Amino acid sequence: MNTCTHSLVPYAPDAHVRMLKRGTRLLEPDVYVASVGTRQAVFKDYRRYRWTPLSPLARLLVRREARILDRLSGWGYAPALLGTIGGLVLGMEFIDGKVLGHDVAMVSDEVFRRLKSAVATLHAAGIAHNDLHRSNILVNGGMPMVVDFASALLMPAWLAHSPLGRQLRRSDLANVVKLQSRLTGTPPSPAEAAVLAEPRWVRTIRNAWKRLYRGKA
Ligand SMILES: Nc1ncnc2c1ncn2[C@@H]1O[C@H](COP(=O)(O)OP(=O)(O)O)[C@@H](O)[C@H]1O
Ligand SMILES: [Mg+2]
Repeated sequence: MNTCTHSLVPYAPDAHVRMLKRGTRLLEPDVYVASVGTRQAVFKDYRRYRWTPLSPLARLLVRREARILDRLSGWGYAPALLGTIGGLVLGMEFIDGKVLGHDVAMVSDEVFRRLKSAVATLHAAGIAHNDLHRSNILVNGGMPMVVDFASALLMPAWLAHSPLGRQLRRSDLANVVKLQSRLTGTPPSPAEAAVLAEPRWVRTIRNAWKRLYRGKA
């Protein structure tokens, strides 16, 4: 995995960067676009946690996401990892797309067919995304791209084959199927409808996982 030098990232989000999302909730990074040489890059910046008791957790989030992006190089549906900076900033390729559903003309069953196929290969690689909602799916020219692997889990084989691993995969797929039926009106197939029936214990564990890592309810 690459490690960038500090000079690659602006010292602080200012007029030279375009803010994508200001981190307001617990352990949410500032996410912004900045130029690196002639290209644009996205930075997830947790530096406001430096010198705080949450710093180790923020570093863990950066390390985990970087590790997964590194593992996904060549997958084709995730931004390329540029590297980490000082342990608290993650740099990645800028995806020039629109959030899924932002533009109705860009939403089609074909986009969802590709997305489901992408998610299937992600799962085959032993990775569950765990946060597949609209704002983490960008679309460019009919091609869906997945971002935000902060909650993702790289599962060892024993976990991937366990009931929990199966449920995490099922829950990713359920999110995509729900989005498809909401945005295109295409109802879930009978097999997908079965996937949507999530047992309560799964919801409890997934929410606990998110709360632990992201401070989300
Ligand atoms: N590589 C990227 N290229 C373009 N936009 C991105 C990229 N990564 C994130 N974004 C945009 O920034 C938003 C926030 O980033 P995200 O990784 O989801 O942060 P958070 O973990 O706080 O949700 C995303 O919803 C997406 O719209
Ligand atoms: Mg996100």
